[in-house]
Amino acid sequence: MSTRYIIANWKMNIKGDEAREYAIGLEQYLVNNPTQSTVVLCPPILCLPSISSVKPTQFSLGVQNFYPMDSGSVTGEHSLAMLDSLNVSYAIIGHSERRILFNEDEDSIARKIKYAVEKGYSIILCIGESREERELGITQQRIEQQLQVLSSLPKESTTPICIAYEPLWAIGTGIIPQVDEIATCVQSIKKYIDENLDQYSKSIYTLYGGSVTQDNVASILAIDGIHGVLVGSASLQLDSFTGIIGKS
Ligand code: 13P
Repeated sequence: MSTRYIIANWKMNIKGDEAREYAIGLEQYLVNNPTQSTVVLCPPILCLPSISSVKPTQFSLGVQNFYPMDSGSVTGEHSLAMLDSLNVSYAIIGHSERRILFNEDEDSIARKIKYAVEKGYSIILCIGESREERELGITQQRIEQQLQVLSSLPKESTTPICIAYEPLWAIGTGIIPQVDEIATCVQSIKKYIDENLDQYSKSIYTLYGGSVTQDNVASILAIDGIHGVLVGSASLQLDSFTGIIGKS
């Protein structure tokens, strides 16, 4: 399990030419500074055609959301089938912002997992406790509960599954858990996978997300069982994101 993932989630930021310029710069950086890590860029859906036209060879593309149907009467949504020509291979599912702002529940997350994996996508499933859950001391319970959606994985799946542990209170706050707190959550995830999803254990990778920067990435990646990071704000500037890649 030597693969490391460095994944950028731009959320609802960066548009048009700026996105294309960033993609060209990232490709150039990676050509000049080869990395063992798998780098994935998840821009807003509207940026995908222009970024894809750069024909990146050094990084992969992902979506931040999709509706689990090829086409149909679903106003305002997009399907994975619509991305066929854009070389998108990753899909973020269950991000806390979607759970909170769009009431995404475990059923819809489970349907998305099944659909995306059947389409051959690698998924990035986001889980994590809220500040209140942490204060109540139910972090491990919450993690275990959120992992149950993985029972919707198709039995024969071998595509990489990334589980991003993103405590809600660490997202966009500049506060990150202590290294041993992350390590405990990683152990809980590993235990759950060993006990319930053993057949996927070789294709499941555990990532950390929440206020990752160039300054803290090395200590996060040094945690046993961590296979990468999911980066929000610090991925919005190319030099900051390449700084993170450089330390991976
Ligand atoms: P920040 O890195 O801005 O805290 O965001 C993390 C995140 O939500 C990535 O999906």
